[in-house]
Amino acid sequence: VKHLRSIEELGEAGLERLLSLTNHMVEVNRRPVPKVPALRGRTIVSLFFEDSTRTRLSFETAAKRLSADTMTFSVSTSSVNKGESLRDTVETITDMGVDAFVVRHKSTGIPWQISEWTNASIVNAGDGWHQHPTQALVDCFTVREALGKQRFDGLTVTIVGDIKHSRVARSNVAAFSMLGAEVVLVAPPTLLPPDVSHWPVGVSYRLDDVLSRTDVLYMLRLQSERMAQWHVPNLREYAETYGLDAARADKLPAHAVVMHPGPMNRGVEMLIDPSVLSNSLIHRQVANGVSVRMAVLFDLLAGESSSSNLQQVAS
Ligand code: NCD
Repeated sequence: VKHLRSIEELGEAGLERLLSLTNHMVEVNRRPVPKVPALRGRTIVSLFFEDSTRTRLSFETAAKRLSADTMTFSVSTSSVNKGESLRDTVETITDMGVDAFVVRHKSTGIPWQISEWTNASIVNAGDGWHQHPTQALVDCFTVREALGKQRFDGLTVTIVGDIKHSRVARSNVAAFSMLGAEVVLVAPPTLLPPDVSHWPVGVSYRLDDVLSRTDVLYMLRLQSERMAQWHVPNLREYAETYGLDAARADKLPAHAVVMHPGPMNRGVEMLIDPSVLSNSLIHRQVANGVSVRMAVLFDLLAGESSSSNLQQVAS
């Protein structure tokens, strides 16, 4: 059984494979009827124990465009509220016959734990502070598309904000650096992990120092729901020091692009309306989210027939 649980587990070859498969899915999505029979008869369940807009809807759309059957599990209306354990929940759904679980949970490691309890494929749609591999695939694909480069050697990707609580940052550090980028983390010390010395990154506490050498500016949300205590003295001061406003946008090189995984907190990390930025990729990230997740589901579930299936997808 194949899984997609982290960028490290995927590796560079896997990253390349999924990014190139995404090109086929982009082509499918351009058709008048963006639907192919590739995963007919397969069942995919989304198991979200945490809120989501983009990730959940794009996985569900991706599954439907590949003609898979979908089930949606909402924790708030499930028997979890009657005290059913995660293991019993997973085993119960498995008994109904599912091929993949798309899992989001507030605890690190849950996708690995669940794969002990089911024979289905597991896709990590976000586990705690740890990993969000499909977001990193989306972001690498989007940068490739925007800059017309397959490799990111010589590019500086600056990730700004709440790195400490960010699974997006952890997956993106791994993915962007696999493709050759130099990654710089910018945050106050309280929003950095205690020790990043083994991460393939540079660190700065001052956004204004790194803007002029940034090619990709990646803004993160303050993830207050993941904070046990308040990590910034006050929001206004955070916004003044680390928020993207018009003056900071002007300090970026003309070719630099701006990204955000969403959801944005306007007035905190985004002080400028991104629609006035000439090089915002935020809408491209969302649009590519569907194609990337189609590639992921296809790669995991199309199985033995996958090369003939790909002909169907590509024709
Ligand atoms: C992120 C998440 O949930 O990890 N959102 C997303 O999936 N696009 C980032 C966040 O919550 O800030």
